[in-house]
Amino acid sequence: MRGFFITFEGPEGAGKTTQLKMLTPWLKKRGCECLITREPGGTPLAEMIRETVKHHNTAEPVFDQTELLLFAASRAQHVNYRIRPALKEGKFVLCDRFTDSTLAYQGFARNGDIEFIKRLNDYCIGDCVPDLTILMDLDPANGRQRTAIRSETIGIHDRLEAETIAFHQQVRAGYLKLAELEPQRIVIVSAEQTPDAIHEAIIRIFTERFKI
Ligand SMILES: Nc1ncnc2c1ncn2[C@@H]1O[C@H](COP(=O)(O)OP(=O)(O)OP(=O)(O)O)[C@@H](O)[C@H]1O
Ligand SMILES: [Mg+2]
Repeated sequence: MRGFFITFEGPEGAGKTTQLKMLTPWLKKRGCECLITREPGGTPLAEMIRETVKHHNTAEPVFDQTELLLFAASRAQHVNYRIRPALKEGKFVLCDRFTDSTLAYQGFARNGDIEFIKRLNDYCIGDCVPDLTILMDLDPANGRQRTAIRSETIGIHDRLEAETIAFHQQVRAGYLKLAELEPQRIVIVSAEQTPDAIHEAIIRIFTERFKI
């Protein structure tokens, strides 16, 4: 028995965390056991890497290779320690960001070597390929407006959030390209709708894919 592995992707402020919170009770009501998790992070060690990679702000720069490898290290830990065991137990694993974030941010937006990043992702995840990826698409300028007024993070910007709008436009374009390459796995949902309308769209996809 293997559960289902679903990842949520999209630019900052798209509403990934909001939708995960709305979807979890919906799944539980239908008797589905869930693991809700996130990247970078998801295990104690991986959360330590998250803190380092997102909030490092001394004079020492974080080099692109370092950033990429820290995300990869967090992922390897997370997949082996949490995701694969949960899938073996037949759970729905819902993950806030995963491999496509690395391709969009460190690959497309930072001009990294896409083929190398794909190989690195494969090395870290092995057989834990998402069954479905919900790509929440929106204009990064709107995303920035949303995060600017998000109460939990007011005045707090991590290194990636602090990048320019042009950078975030490349992230968005990267995601859309990935969706074009893997239309079966990656389903685009417009994030420029109300949270309820997005939730409805997501549960339609879940109902159809997983027969729940
Ligand atoms: N559909 C929506 N329309 C307007 N505002 C929204 C919508 N969905 C979420 N928000 C609000 O926008 C802000 C960002 O949402 P959320 O934190 O869920 O985004 P996120 O994709 O998880 O962002 P991040 O990448 O920074 O983790 C929150 O304050 C949230 O309440
Ligand atoms: Mg979030």
